[in-house]
Amino acid sequence: MEPAQKERTPFADIDGLPASMSAMLLDALTEMGRHPEIRRVRRVAFEALSPQPGQRLLDAGSGEGEVARHLAVETQPAGEVVALDHSASITAAAVSRHDGSAVRYVTGDVCAMDLPADGFDGVWCERVLQHVDSAEQAIGELIRVTRPGGRICLIDTDWSSLAFDGMPSGLGEVVMAHVRGHFTPKQHDMGRTLRRRLVANGLTGITATPVTCLFTSPESAAVVLPMVNPRVPEESWATPPGLRDEWLACVDAAGASGTFLAVLTIWVVAGTVPG
Ligand SMILES: C[S@@+](CC[C@H](N)C(=O)[O-])C[C@H]1O[C@@H](n2cnc3c(N)ncnc32)[C@H](O)[C@@H]1O
Repeated sequence: MEPAQKERTPFADIDGLPASMSAMLLDALTEMGRHPEIRRVRRVAFEALSPQPGQRLLDAGSGEGEVARHLAVETQPAGEVVALDHSASITAAAVSRHDGSAVRYVTGDVCAMDLPADGFDGVWCERVLQHVDSAEQAIGELIRVTRPGGRICLIDTDWSSLAFDGMPSGLGEVVMAHVRGHFTPKQHDMGRTLRRRLVANGLTGITATPVTCLFTSPESAAVVLPMVNPRVPEESWATPPGLRDEWLACVDAAGASGTFLAVLTIWVVAGTVPG
């Protein structure tokens, strides 16, 4: 039995959050999509999925839809991308950003999709499985909707790879212990489990690429790492009094002296559905 995610990760149920919080998450997703390290991860994933003209693709957990629109360009002429997300508000934001590309936006749960079997030539699922209650169920669904010979590309974070340098090590350890319980999903090692999951499901031609993202300033890191983002409100930390401020002051000092460093590995794992 995999751990329930909803207690900890705001991305599991964006529509259940206060409007100000869901707006903040939408902004965060948009900013992340512009970050050079996330773009580097996506370039690796594009190569692994290799979208082709005429293909029908699914972006499962599509967020604000930027990747779906980018994939749609590659499927022309005659192809289509279905962008599916659990959140009605995120889907509405994605629709409002539509640029006329061949994307159809739908709401739905990746663990139980209202989509026919064998309907897609390829599937992209980026930083979603860490937020669902059962990654196994979701992967089963992604396989069900992909035709035999179609390719599935999973992209997910290994939060246990997160490491800092430039901050006092004792404080860093205390903060990281806290962060593991509050800022990262319970399934915090999702990225590095993906290869095993595709092997266990009988996929072939599996490629697994760890992309280690490097952040050398607090400003750059804050786009992807909530624990160095001063805009994340104090109540989200739920730390012992003073710990958040002490940590953020050290992050600032490391930034000012040029010694700040953070690394986080995001995995890109792709495989072919057997025929
Ligand atoms: C961290 S965001 C990633 C969004 C997008 N893939 C990207 O990389 O920008 C996670 C997304 O997964 C969606 N999500 C969470 N649980 C889901 C589920 N069970 N089914 C479909 N989408 C889900 C959220 O609404 C959110 O848009």
